[in-house]
Amino acid sequence: MKNLRTPFSPIRFKNETLYLLDQRKLPGQEKWLPCRGSRAVWHAIREMVVRGAPAIGITAGYGLYLGIRSFRGTREGFLAKLDKEARYLDSSRPTARNLAYALERIIRKVRRCSGGQAEQLKKIVREEALQIHEDDIVLCRKIGSFGSKLFKKRDSILTHCNAGGLATSGYGTALAVFYALQEKKIPFSVFVDETRPLLQGARLTAWELTKSKIPCRLICDNMAASVMRAGKIDGVVVGADRIAMNGDTANKIGTYGVAVLAKVHGIPFYVAAPSTTFDLQAKTGSDIPIEERPSHEVSHVQGKLMAPKTVKTFNPAFDVTPYAYIRGFITEAGVLKPPFAKSFRKIKLLLKNK
Ligand code: MRU
Repeated sequence: MKNLRTPFSPIRFKNETLYLLDQRKLPGQEKWLPCRGSRAVWHAIREMVVRGAPAIGITAGYGLYLGIRSFRGTREGFLAKLDKEARYLDSSRPTARNLAYALERIIRKVRRCSGGQAEQLKKIVREEALQIHEDDIVLCRKIGSFGSKLFKKRDSILTHCNAGGLATSGYGTALAVFYALQEKKIPFSVFVDETRPLLQGARLTAWELTKSKIPCRLICDNMAASVMRAGKIDGVVVGADRIAMNGDTANKIGTYGVAVLAKVHGIPFYVAAPSTTFDLQAKTGSDIPIEERPSHEVSHVQGKLMAPKTVKTFNPAFDVTPYAYIRGFITEAGVLKPPFAKSFRKIKLLLKNK
């Protein structure tokens, strides 16, 4: 791994074992979960031991390797097993594009090695999984660097959910902007939406920012409107799970509401994401699958029932923000502004070369 600094590293691959910082237990405990096979990786993604689009992609890459590493047999048998494992891992969570991106990228790389036998192909899978992990660090650093130019001294920036080091290889996308501002010694502060139902803002973003000594204040989701109206927010930066080609963007449930509020209050709303989150096949937001998660996540908070036992719930994990609410996309290729049909050409080029 190149020696690029990240505030921490939530995903580690050592001695043929994948170690994941268990995000369900944060901020109370810092526990690591070892995964030695693709089944363990599938469950870790589904149950959100690891979460956040780029982190899920990196994890799935290693999961694919763990799924085929003990394979013995022919090239054809290997390729069939590889496809099967990829389909299995891809079924763990539906919305984040990075998951399928990583799996497709590895399969493409393997298939390019015509004539390679199983042992050689396994090595390619392993190397490409490591490369996806390493690349993410570089992408996030670039996002941070471009994004930090959008803000000035003493700006106050709101973020929703966790698009930080925990959601990536360690530096984040939305939070990369904050880490880069801090590195440039530009004073600024952050408002963190708690992000119900799973509290990624309160548990994870507040944990990261506090750990890095970035000034932040935690607010409940329903406070954002009045905080904006009081003139306390200069900009919003959030991450993304999947971006359609017209700019419609799926991110954590509640993001759309924040975008509408930002528009009403004349506050610039930015999405920070690497090219690996853009989906060339999704024309608009209606092509993005939205995950529905279990009922207890809404009826309970941290395991405690907060509603009548028999109440019905609805729990979409993501929403889609229409492109018209987005001032720009902070990517590794720079800040992409409307019209997105034109500015996304850079992304298409990057993805076609991978
Ligand atoms: O359900 P989660 O916690 O995986 O949702 C995460 C988000 O919505 C993030 O904002 C997104 O994945 C971007 S992470 C850089």
